[in-house]
Amino acid sequence: MTSQAPAGEPPSDPPPARNEPPSFDISRAHPARIYDYWLGGRDNYEADRVAAELAIQADPAIVPGVRANRAFLRRAVQYLAGEAGVRQFLDIGTGLPTADNTHEVAQAIAPESRIVYVDNDPIVLAHARALLDSTPQGATAYIQADVRDPAAIRREAARTLDFSQPVAVMLLMIMQYIPDADGPREVISGVAGAVPAGSYLALSTVTRDIVADRITEGAARLNKRMGAASISLRTREEIAGFFDGLDLVEPGLVHLPEWRAMSAPGNWMPAYAGVARKP
Ligand SMILES: C[S@@+](CC[C@H](N)C(=O)[O-])C[C@H]1O[C@@H](n2cnc3c(N)ncnc32)[C@H](O)[C@@H]1O
Repeated sequence: MTSQAPAGEPPSDPPPARNEPPSFDISRAHPARIYDYWLGGRDNYEADRVAAELAIQADPAIVPGVRANRAFLRRAVQYLAGEAGVRQFLDIGTGLPTADNTHEVAQAIAPESRIVYVDNDPIVLAHARALLDSTPQGATAYIQADVRDPAAIRREAARTLDFSQPVAVMLLMIMQYIPDADGPREVISGVAGAVPAGSYLALSTVTRDIVADRITEGAARLNKRMGAASISLRTREEIAGFFDGLDLVEPGLVHLPEWRAMSAPGNWMPAYAGVARKP
């Protein structure tokens, strides 16, 4: 676990290709770096940019879509830290640091908030410093781990989070990387099983229900260029199953841009989002 600045470049610097021995494969596209490119970041490589651009050509709504997902993250954390009074966050599949990371949104409302970030891509670890810039009253930590290993995540996160108190588990735009063969519902119940009653799950993921042809082609182009990671597009029913045993808060599982939107949603991102409470 990293709880202070690790070696590596700050997120606004170019990729650390020349100064650090890359412990990651830059010849293949990777989810965190593709996503970084779509968000206008600079922590990506040629293979990521090519894959990201090919997907945009198939589905030009991707860029406004990923921004809509970050806006969902903001609204969900504002709800959780504000209305729901949660003070602990476990953000799994964090991605590279960008604007309004979970700790910034939560600690702006409740400075004592404690946040643990988790990702399995070493490039996120290399840039984790920006995720560890906590308020003095709160705490932040970073764990390099796979969502499919909830026992390891809980063990490491317990150094920062009190698992006898509610925790908001954030699974934003990660579950599409967990294929059916890996039992995505079991993965979620493993993570949800680690947190007490009164905890929350915030989840967003892509669907094949909305603009199916474009998203299917975009995902196929990405899958061809990514290594082990590949995208599984799911139906609303399958995604609703991820919330089994939990109580969805209003407005339920909805088209992502519509979740507690302050104004009329501006795009048709093919994704659903929801927040649920563990009874
Ligand atoms: C599309 S980004 C989403 C970033 C952020 N959650 C958001 O919604 O803005 C997906 C992230 O999930 C991470 N990821 C993919 N599969 C994972 C796994 N099995 N375990 C942990 N992280 C994973 C990727 O490395 C990437 O950083």
